[in-house]
Amino acid sequence: MKLFLDTANVDEIREIAAWGILDGVTTNPSLIASEGRDFIQVIAEICDIVKGPTSAEVIAQDVAGMVREGRMLAKISEHVVVKLPLTEAGIAATSVLSKDGIRTNVTLCFQPVQALLAAKAGATYISPFVGRVDDVSWDGNDLIEQIVGIYLNGDHQTQVLAASIRHPLHLVQAALAGADVATCPYKVLKAALKHPLTDIGNERFLADWSKVGDQDIVGQVERFLAKR
Ligand code: E4P
Repeated sequence: MKLFLDTANVDEIREIAAWGILDGVTTNPSLIASEGRDFIQVIAEICDIVKGPTSAEVIAQDVAGMVREGRMLAKISEHVVVKLPLTEAGIAATSVLSKDGIRTNVTLCFQPVQALLAAKAGATYISPFVGRVDDVSWDGNDLIEQIVGIYLNGDHQTQVLAASIRHPLHLVQAALAGADVATCPYKVLKAALKHPLTDIGNERFLADWSKVGDQDIVGQVERFLAKR
């Protein structure tokens, strides 16, 4: 499963990109607005950092407006993926942009049948919102499983992008359900790396190693190699 970061904060993106595990980034109008920066500049910077799929969302609500915005956004960088809402206009605009060869991410998916229509429109990615489904007492992971099943049955090429990820368990569930991608907030990815037993174990190893006379592993290897 590929991992995207769900943020418009370039500092967060730089930090996670340095781990060497980041495949892409998703943004949305709320995330862009929370940065208080120029939309187009932020998208260009993210593309330069990640050099992978970077979702930038249209604001227009009619087909012609969405297509016009999508075509312009796609000019920012080869890495831009045009994000469109799962509305009638969004589906129609996805069909047009797909035929242009522009990659699309159809967002705000809450029903398996919506995902089927997005795939028929040629969407590159479908974004089911796991956390927001959980919020209304349904199972967001069921949604992922059903979409994965539908796409397999129909041999659809659209990739399932698990979105609205709220905690590390959502990542595990999405991976087990067969999602192609999960996009998660910075704090969730940081939490996914943490385990108290990892920290305790590491501290114990270091404490034991501090009792060894020569602490310098690099120096030891250099001396070993010089003698060979
Ligand atoms: C990603 O593409 C979505 O916009 C995002 O994951 C939504 O997450 P939220 O439900 O936490 O706002």
